[in-house]
Amino acid sequence: MSRRIPQEKKFLKDIAIIDIAEEGRGVGKTDDLVLFVEKAVPGDVVDVELMRKKKNFAEARVTSLKEASTYRVDPFCEHFGVCGGCKWQHMSYESQLKFKQQSVDNALSRIGKVDTSAMEDILGSAQTEYYRNKLEYTFSNKKWLTSVDEDASQLEMNALGFHVPGRFDKILDIDHCFLQQDPSNEIRNTIRDFALSKGMTFYDLREHTGVLRNLIIRISSTGEMMVIVVFAYPEEGQVELLMNFINERFPQIASLLYIVNQKRNDTIFDQDIHVYAGRDFIYEEMEGLRYKVGPKSFYQTNSAQAYELYKITRDFADLKGDELVYDLYTGAGTIANFVAKKAKEVIGVEYVPTAIEDAKVNSAINNINNTKFYAGDMKDVLIPSFVVEHGKPDVVITDPPRAGMHADVVARLLEMESPRIVYVSCNAATQARDLVLLAEKYDVKRIKPVDMFPHTQHVENVVLLELKKS
Ligand SMILES: C[S@@+](CC[C@H](N)C(=O)[O-])C[C@H]1O[C@@H](n2cnc3c(N)ncnc32)[C@H](O)[C@@H]1O
Repeated sequence: MSRRIPQEKKFLKDIAIIDIAEEGRGVGKTDDLVLFVEKAVPGDVVDVELMRKKKNFAEARVTSLKEASTYRVDPFCEHFGVCGGCKWQHMSYESQLKFKQQSVDNALSRIGKVDTSAMEDILGSAQTEYYRNKLEYTFSNKKWLTSVDEDASQLEMNALGFHVPGRFDKILDIDHCFLQQDPSNEIRNTIRDFALSKGMTFYDLREHTGVLRNLIIRISSTGEMMVIVVFAYPEEGQVELLMNFINERFPQIASLLYIVNQKRNDTIFDQDIHVYAGRDFIYEEMEGLRYKVGPKSFYQTNSAQAYELYKITRDFADLKGDELVYDLYTGAGTIANFVAKKAKEVIGVEYVPTAIEDAKVNSAINNINNTKFYAGDMKDVLIPSFVVEHGKPDVVITDPPRAGMHADVVARLLEMESPRIVYVSCNAATQARDLVLLAEKYDVKRIKPVDMFPHTQHVENVVLLELKKS
């Protein structure tokens, strides 16, 4: 429970920031409290105001930067500080990589009890700006007002942009986002301006009213574009008016789609997709392979760095061509198809049925005939009879969601005793937890963190495990 903070204890002076926490806040200490300080960087000395206090720790914000850390740089985006997108922009990229490496090291050594002395250096992203292939924006009639917006009564209150952290109903109007290459910004701003000029209403996230709801832009590594406009309650002619405008203004869009979503939530997975112009998919390309990406398909959002991650995964798997590989949590089968020509057979398992359909299509369009894909919850699919039917794998590649693997799945891996496991993870803490269990039969041989998301606290980590010689 949060405690009330007496006024005289609310403000603390000269706090040295000594570390960075998992979610990216600076960490400071007093005699009796650990402080998590928004926007503070290790090496800073700051005065802070406590915002929330628990027994042993408190959340705080900087009121004065007394000494700036040498890791600090000027953020390059005008939306920094309000937008939740790139919270580490105020730290040099080299220092971001250093802290990501350190956070993986801490998780593996403290939670996983792994000897990290031979851990390899983190692979940074060659592109640190404009690296995402997909962005999702929200239309809202409740624009988040910044200090620049002085006279609210005169302001346009409609906005198209990103949620302000902690405010589901407020949207920060975005003018320039550094996450996706051109013409992403131009498309977003042009659509917003046209909608405003035609008096189209923007969604009210509390009342569930309004015409325009979401905008999704995908730009693949081949330069192909998909634009999806999500309407809520369009009036007669409004869909045609906007879609026709987009089509004429940006004829290079390969896949122009729209959805009418009148549900309470934003997810498009259960919605009908309408093709306004072009195809209902775009292509991604990686090492000569083509991947078909539809509006509901999952594809790693940093395409260039996904290629690096997959190369490391394949290198760790050390395939000679005669192996049976299991690719667990295969998504749209991207890793499975990527390693297929170096293996005898690859079997992919994934929860989402449409992703499995994509995985099969991706094998077919690349003339890959040695893959098989199965949909279902991993703990229910990867059971002894599955292993009897398909054979014991020589190599397991596993890339679970943030929660890590279910204990039953880890137990199955221990039973299967595959000689090698390559464990790709986006959460080193849950990976470390799973490594503790796997240590019963496996040694950690290699560890390589990879940065897929510059200017955020997220970090990917690849671990190679080898079966202990009995
Ligand atoms: C980190 S993604 C891996 C995607 C894929 N390896 C790639 O690189 O594109 C994790 C995947 O696990 C799937 N997943 C989550 N929980 C699952 C479960 N219980 N059983 C099977 N798959 C699951 C998700 O749908 C998601 O596609």
